[in-house]
Formats: sequence, structure tokens, C-alpha cells
Amino acid sequence: MKRRPLLAGNWKMHLNIADAVELAKNVAAAAEQSDRDVMIAPAFTALSAVAKALKGSRLFLGAQNVAWEAQGAFTGEIAPPMLTDIGVRMVIIGHSERRHIFLEDDAMINRRLRAALNYDLTPVLCLGETLAEREAGSTFQVLEMQLRGGLQEVSAAQAAQVVLAYEPVWAIGTGRTASTDQAQEAHAFLRRLLAKIYNKNLAETVRVLYGGSVKPDNISALMAQADIDGALVGGAALKIDAFERIIRFQ
Ligand code: G3H
Repeated sequence: MKRRPLLAGNWKMHLNIADAVELAKNVAAAAEQSDRDVMIAPAFTALSAVAKALKGSRLFLGAQNVAWEAQGAFTGEIAPPMLTDIGVRMVIIGHSERRHIFLEDDAMINRRLRAALNYDLTPVLCLGETLAEREAGSTFQVLEMQLRGGLQEVSAAQAAQVVLAYEPVWAIGTGRTASTDQAQEAHAFLRRLLAKIYNKNLAETVRVLYGGSVKPDNISALMAQADIDGALVGGAALKIDAFERIIRFQ
């Protein structure tokens, strides 16, 4: 089955408002020429200005995280309706930096994901093993725990709205991409697991992105794999020439 490619830029903790707006406009112009879905996730401080600059654009605006309550005493968090209020449509959840630096666990990630779904935000659920886990031969075990944990109490109808992003931790920001075989193997595993948890139809429609040192010169080989439906791009999404080439991969 053909799934629509999604090229997503995670800007992490980079760019001031002016630079974010400029880059967003350039990405929007590149996306306009393409029939692929494109998402950018700027830092929270730039979201509102970028949303204004993108009015009428077909680019998907994303956030880098979301709280699980609609409001209240949650210092440092951003609620789902605060995001939808300014036009955010997607949200990255469970990124490896959230898991490993800020110690978010599957239970917390699951609460964030369910909150996003309840507010019609498309969650991009990130999962991936560390180098130690891969070397110990526990990659699939880790992926299964993260997928089952992240989708706890999520109905099939809701799970159909989710995007997955397989990001081996050892490939993030290291310049070391997973080989196409390693990536395809993990993506196929996740899809089989979705079929087991839900059903085959759902598994065939959910998009699974690859993330970890995606660059203009490796995107085509990755996208040629049967179960890779797009990319979650960090460093290369901060430069318009690189990200534009990624959007336009052949
Ligand atoms: O969310 C994006 C990933 O962490 C990948 O980052 O492309 O800089 O390796 P990277």
C-alpha cells in the first residue's frame, strides 16, 4: 500500500523568532512545489509567529511536546488547547531527548499522546533503541515495550491517526545513519506489531518515519524501503537547501 510521504523537521532548541519565521517561509515555499506532506516543529517561543507567517500554507505546524492536562499548575508545560489555539496540528511525543535527558517514561509519553489525540493533534510517537540495547540484542524488545507503552488504552480509531518515528538513539546527531536494512527491519517489525495489537489494515495505513542523521544524500535510499514512509530530520532541517533537497527526494 502506498502511504503519503511525510518529511518532518524537528528544529529542537534552535533559532530565534526572526530566523524561525524566515526558515518557515522558505520551507513553505518548497512544500508548495511538492505533493508530499511537510511538517516543521519550531521551539515553543517561535510557534505563534511561525503560525502567523504560515497562514494559508499547506505546511503542517508541529510542536515538540505537549502536556496531558488542558490547564492548571504544570509549570514549564504547554497544554494541548494552547497549541490548537495557534494552529498547531502535529506534535512530537517521546523524542529520545525527552526520554533520555528529561527521563520521560512510557507512561508519561502515553498520557501526552492520548491528550494530543483528544485535541485532534496528530502525535508523532518517537521510539528507538540505544547503542547498548542494540549491541545487547534487545532492539525489538525495546521497540515493543515503547510501542505497547505509548499506545496503552488507545483505540484502533485513534491509533490510525498516529505517526510513528523510529529513531535509533545512536544515529541521532551523530552522522551515523542506520543502514537501510537496519531501518527497514525495525520499521517492518513495528508494522507487524501494529497489526498484532490492532489489525492489518491499520498497520498498513500508519506512517512510520525514520530519524537519525537523515541528509539529502541518504534520503532516497531510505525512502526506497517498503516500510519507510518519511523522515524526522534534525540538523539538516535547519538549513533550507538541505531540507528542500530532502523534501524533493527522488
Ligand atoms: O528529531 C530528529 C532526530 O532527533 C534526528 O536528528 O537528524 O540531527 O540526527 P538528526
